[in-house]
Amino acid sequence: MPVARFNQASSFHQIKAYSQTLKGKHLSEMFAGDPKRGQALSVRTPHLFLDYSRQRVDLKTMQMLEKLADERKLGSRIKAMTTGQKINETEDRAVLHLALRDPEGKLVIPAQIEDAVVRAEAGEVKEVLSHIESFSKEIISGKRTGKNGKPIKNIVAVGIGGSYLGPEYLANSLRPFAQDGMNLRFVANVDGADFVEKTQDLDLEETLVIIVSKTFTTAETMKNATTAKEWIKTAIDRHFVAVSTAAEKVDAFGINTENMFGFWNWVGGRYSASSAVGILPLALYLGFDNAKKILDGAHWMDKHFVESPFMSNIPILSAMLDIWNINFMGFKTRALLPYSQGVGRLPAHTQQVEMESNGKRVLMDGTPVDFDTGEVVFGEPGTNGQHSFYQLIHQGTQIIPCDFIGFINPQYPLGKATAKEVTHHQELMTNFLAQADALAFGKKSDNPHKHFPGNRPSSSLLLKQLDPFTAGLLLAWTEHRAAVKGFIWGINSFDQYGVELGKILGADHRGRMLQFNDTGVINVDGLNPSTAALLTAFLKGGLPK
Ligand code: F6P
Repeated sequence: MPVARFNQASSFHQIKAYSQTLKGKHLSEMFAGDPKRGQALSVRTPHLFLDYSRQRVDLKTMQMLEKLADERKLGSRIKAMTTGQKINETEDRAVLHLALRDPEGKLVIPAQIEDAVVRAEAGEVKEVLSHIESFSKEIISGKRTGKNGKPIKNIVAVGIGGSYLGPEYLANSLRPFAQDGMNLRFVANVDGADFVEKTQDLDLEETLVIIVSKTFTTAETMKNATTAKEWIKTAIDRHFVAVSTAAEKVDAFGINTENMFGFWNWVGGRYSASSAVGILPLALYLGFDNAKKILDGAHWMDKHFVESPFMSNIPILSAMLDIWNINFMGFKTRALLPYSQGVGRLPAHTQQVEMESNGKRVLMDGTPVDFDTGEVVFGEPGTNGQHSFYQLIHQGTQIIPCDFIGFINPQYPLGKATAKEVTHHQELMTNFLAQADALAFGKKSDNPHKHFPGNRPSSSLLLKQLDPFTAGLLLAWTEHRAAVKGFIWGINSFDQYGVELGKILGADHRGRMLQFNDTGVINVDGLNPSTAALLTAFLKGGLPK
């Protein structure tokens, strides 16, 4: 029987009708009428606690959302993913990032993967991991050095998008676990400022450059890679390695493929942080054992995701609450607010995972969607965001559901816990606790400028501490949350054709700039007057008069 479109499912209409009732209810009312609300609308696991009682839902909503997930065949879509079916239909690819953290094949069972090539490739995960292990141990122990025998102290990872954001989130989260004296820097932007500022104080004899690019064609990365090669000049074999799926391009660039760490086309860029894309730089920076714990944390979340029933499945509940907010309440922007300096780049990574995956205007079959897909995600670590954009979240005219993330223990214990003073971490957590209540319950005032309407939804995620395991499970939570929404909407969360047009137009401008460099001629043929004026000003080196 064909699966009904998202907005034709019978539960969609039931939820739509019910959302009208809940739109008229205030969270204060919902809490007042139900002393067990906190208990009912929360999930307890050994590693994280999710409280979504401040979302504008009740148990009936959750039951209806579960029915919607069933009607949309969520279970069989997840199964199709974990058994390596080619669910990225537009690119004819499997989606198997779960296999990256399952080298023993317990969750992604090789025998269940139909396609022989994909099955064989999934078996290579272990080999790449042991290559990373031996390589990182050789570097960290000083057995493998830079030219002139100097130990490697600096890792410069050159890559952009999915070849950068997830690894950077993990690296920033795990700074306290870094190997003594080891630096890890990321060069992503083709703006020369990024390259210069990240490398100018480094001794190149102590530096290993990792070129990270799935395709090895991304213009920004190849430009930075070429500049890095010119910088390193000699002994490329000792100072350059690559992470890619494109061995022949790596070879053509001049990196010996023995110094290449592979992955496979069934790992999407934004889902690749747990492949060599992230694990190689992180193993060098944190030591292989810590990098392995990241994978263990991600695998824990994968198992939780694949095996837990709806009402205790954190990524599925997170995704279905997003769908509730986007499609039924009309709240299309979400704030991700980690009360943790370390997790500060998770919002940037989530932006790519959510917006590149689900910013789609057609269903998998190519027909246009007639409902909202995707969401705008933004965020900053607490408490910095409070002194920036929270004003709009508290009193603005649009409602922005928030995700608060907090930790029981700090990474750096600072300050004293006494009757007279709180520690830094306690001070931080006063805000984590206060903000969710301020948003939900508000505060009445006769002065309209000081009135807080409340009824602004949020979820709170509490973990014990930020370490490799929990950083890994948050990574997987982010990935699954985006994928579930795509499954429910019926779009392809694993392609990204929307980034192509800009690249093509950029290549046209590169041609015009090369022509100018060669001949001094500014060629504006075929350009509209606006772009022609901008290009002319840029090449002439002066603002239009
Ligand atoms: O922005 C488009 C994109 O293709 C992303 O999906 C990807 O993560 C990024 O570029 C980098 O691609 P690559 O790893 O091939 O350099």
